[in-house]
Amino acid sequence: MIVEELRNAFLAFFEARDHRRIPSASLVPYGDPSLLFTSAGMVQFKPYFLGLEAPPAARLTSVQKCFRATDIESVGDDSHLTFFEMLGNFSLGDYFKAEAIEAALGFLVGVLELDFERLWVTVYTDDDEAFELWRGQGVPAERILRYSAELGNYWYSGDTGPCGPCSELHYYFGDDPASEPRLPDGQIDLESPNFLEVWNLVFMAFDRAADGSLTPLPSQNIDTGVGLERLAWVQQDVRSVYETDQLRSILASAEAAAGIAYDPDGAPAEASALRTITEHARAAAFLIHDGVLPGNEGRGYVLRRVLRRAIYFGYTIGLRDPFIEGVIEAAIDASKSAHRGLDEQRAFIVRVAGDEERRFQAALTRGIELLDGVIEREAAAQRVPGREMFTLYDTHGLPPELTRELAAARCFEVSVAGFVGVRAAQRERSRGETGFSDYGGDEAERFAALGLDSAFLGYEALEAQSAVVALFADGERVDRLEAGAEGEVVLGATAFYAEAGGQVGDRGEIITGSGRFRVDDTQPLGGVHVHRGEVVEGALAEGEAAEARVDPVWRAGSRRNHTATHLLHAALREVLGQHVRQAGSLVAPDHLRFDYTHPQAPAAAELREAQRLVNAKIRDDIAQETFILPYEEAIDRGAIAFFEDRYTSEVRMVEYCEARVAPGAAHRHTPACFSRELCGGTHLHSTGGVGNFVITGDSSIGAGLRRIEALTGPEAERHIEERLELVDDLSQRFKAPPAEIAGRIDALEEQLADERRRAQAQSASRAAGVAEELADQAEHLNGVQLLVAVVEADSADALRGMADRLRERMDSAFVTLGAVIGDRPQLLALATDDVVERGLRADEVVKAAGAVVGGGGGGRPGRARGGGRDASRLGEALEAARALARERLGGA
Ligand code: ALA
Repeated sequence: MIVEELRNAFLAFFEARDHRRIPSASLVPYGDPSLLFTSAGMVQFKPYFLGLEAPPAARLTSVQKCFRATDIESVGDDSHLTFFEMLGNFSLGDYFKAEAIEAALGFLVGVLELDFERLWVTVYTDDDEAFELWRGQGVPAERILRYSAELGNYWYSGDTGPCGPCSELHYYFGDDPASEPRLPDGQIDLESPNFLEVWNLVFMAFDRAADGSLTPLPSQNIDTGVGLERLAWVQQDVRSVYETDQLRSILASAEAAAGIAYDPDGAPAEASALRTITEHARAAAFLIHDGVLPGNEGRGYVLRRVLRRAIYFGYTIGLRDPFIEGVIEAAIDASKSAHRGLDEQRAFIVRVAGDEERRFQAALTRGIELLDGVIEREAAAQRVPGREMFTLYDTHGLPPELTRELAAARCFEVSVAGFVGVRAAQRERSRGETGFSDYGGDEAERFAALGLDSAFLGYEALEAQSAVVALFADGERVDRLEAGAEGEVVLGATAFYAEAGGQVGDRGEIITGSGRFRVDDTQPLGGVHVHRGEVVEGALAEGEAAEARVDPVWRAGSRRNHTATHLLHAALREVLGQHVRQAGSLVAPDHLRFDYTHPQAPAAAELREAQRLVNAKIRDDIAQETFILPYEEAIDRGAIAFFEDRYTSEVRMVEYCEARVAPGAAHRHTPACFSRELCGGTHLHSTGGVGNFVITGDSSIGAGLRRIEALTGPEAERHIEERLELVDDLSQRFKAPPAEIAGRIDALEEQLADERRRAQAQSASRAAGVAEELADQAEHLNGVQLLVAVVEADSADALRGMADRLRERMDSAFVTLGAVIGDRPQLLALATDDVVERGLRADEVVKAAGAVVGGGGGGRPGRARGGGRDASRLGEALEAARALARERLGGA
């Protein structure tokens, strides 16, 4: 069977056993900040296991995209992958061990016809029940090993959360189990190369708390994990995951790029490099598809590392020109039939990977230059320090393996321990930065314990009649909330929208026979809408009839901004490209914020175009339509599901299509819709009500992530008004109609420049006049004109200009001028060449005179400048200059 047949056979097998097929969730987990990446099939089902949400069915099956960064350094061997697909069957309080075990063998032996004799089994240390069940299926006792949690036979979904003992199936490739390595306890070591784990059954029945204690889950569940690639390896009877059909086709493109034939026996290092390029290119394609972009933190850093490792391994087998794009293309081709989104985003994925490669190849060259510098400096030690290794790695992206290799070529060692130490310290820091915490946590549990599903009536109405079901103050359940008390109110039914999908929770009032509660916020917790606020009148008591009244102005604002958010999303995809995906959003009554993926800053013209498109759709007054339909159908119709969206069997789809649907007419789907999204938010009936849309800002919020801020309706109008007022104001100040303001400013700037030029010319001519007068004051000493004078000058330039002019009119001269410029005495001296020859030097004179004003001076013999701090002694300084000049000229 090829991989696609295997995938379908698995799903069909479990569908025939009443399992519901659930699409893979994104690699970026939804609503689970405790995880960087989806790492197992059960991740998207966590809330079902915890009893926080009702599952769509009690039996589920899926093929989940998984990423495990922990295995990155093992990639290149036969079995480890960072990205893989996990087949799974899940029971949520339905069948348990017996049926799960029977089904595992039913598929492996019954459908895939694997050799039963080659299957080895583990059970948890004391799990006699599982042991007997395997025995009952005919597995001999000697092929059932008891493995402890230390041997990995207990599965935890994280530090906290659902967990349980495992039972694994391993496939044996060897001929003689008796000759296989043993563990200290005498049991066969299933980690040895002749065994391959193919099936992991988790009997998931406990919830682990932060202190490590286990409490039974609401029900006993089954969680299964089966690596699709590993199963294909066994089933296709090849020598590693890389010879299975899909990975082999990617590997072929790496071979072609490198001009090297894949030969794991003859050239293992090259084969391992080709495997790594193959694996990492495929992982990168899937990560980029799911919205991850190369960066320096969190998920982005992991992707960057994966891409750089691929490029580095290319380097080790002689690839110096860009090659990654071709391998990524091959990876997309290999997986596109099951993941059509890869094909749809092909151009974007290839470009992101190619850009990273270009950046890194440049950095690689720079890093190598830098390394040469280090090698020169450390010639005595013959060792690259860990700190330098880390800088090369962290700043220049030079993998430590490469640093080591290049250093070795120059007979240098590297300080691996030093590097590991610096890196560990850095990792510790970055762990702090990511700050992942538990999701929902105790809060959600407090409300889930109510066992309630509060009905939301707020799509149709802003008011709902209901009753107070529960009251909380300071997190504790109470019977009454008195006037002035802050607390939380849970109603049987409500019209209040609870914050979700970026849309903020509603505000308003809850009114009972005895009191009034002001609702400041509404949050979805544990399946109920939790109203938070304060009792403003009387008191509220549990059990009372209550009326929920949403603040209509608040809600109207949220609806307007939510509709605009969908229009903006669609417009950005049209203008910037289909790779644009919502990465976060805030829909508030008075503004909206939209985070999206895009590799660079959009041009101003692009943003204007998106804004124009949104406004055009507003003017078209497109009717909104909402459908509740199966998830698969919505996706088939092209609805945008966000990568963090989690599967629910029924979804709400909000669309804005070009053609209006007449009221009362039978629903019909226009094939081309401007916007079609899965969304639980509240919207306008038609786009016209948005009124006005203005983008007020676009900025970068991370690598490949951007944020648009925008206003709608009255806020947009106010923004425009303010801008217009500003223009009017400028228009009055500049006494020009708006269209001429810019021209007027240009003209004024030019005028200003003219003025400056004129002022300079004036001062120059003044200087010329002064120079003329001064020249007349010169004394003649043995054929030299000697001039020493205090002048008025407002800058050093003016002083210099004056001196130059004086010099022009004197053949043989010595000039020293002094001026007070900005409170400071300044001096300038000039000597013609013949004077210098006679022993009178400008620099010497300035130095002496400068000393008098508390400073000094210097320059060349023919021209020198000086100055000091004491302006009051400038006259004295000049007398000193004169005296020295006279002396040298032999006059006095
Ligand atoms: N969740 C289990 C695993 O990942 C099945 O192995």
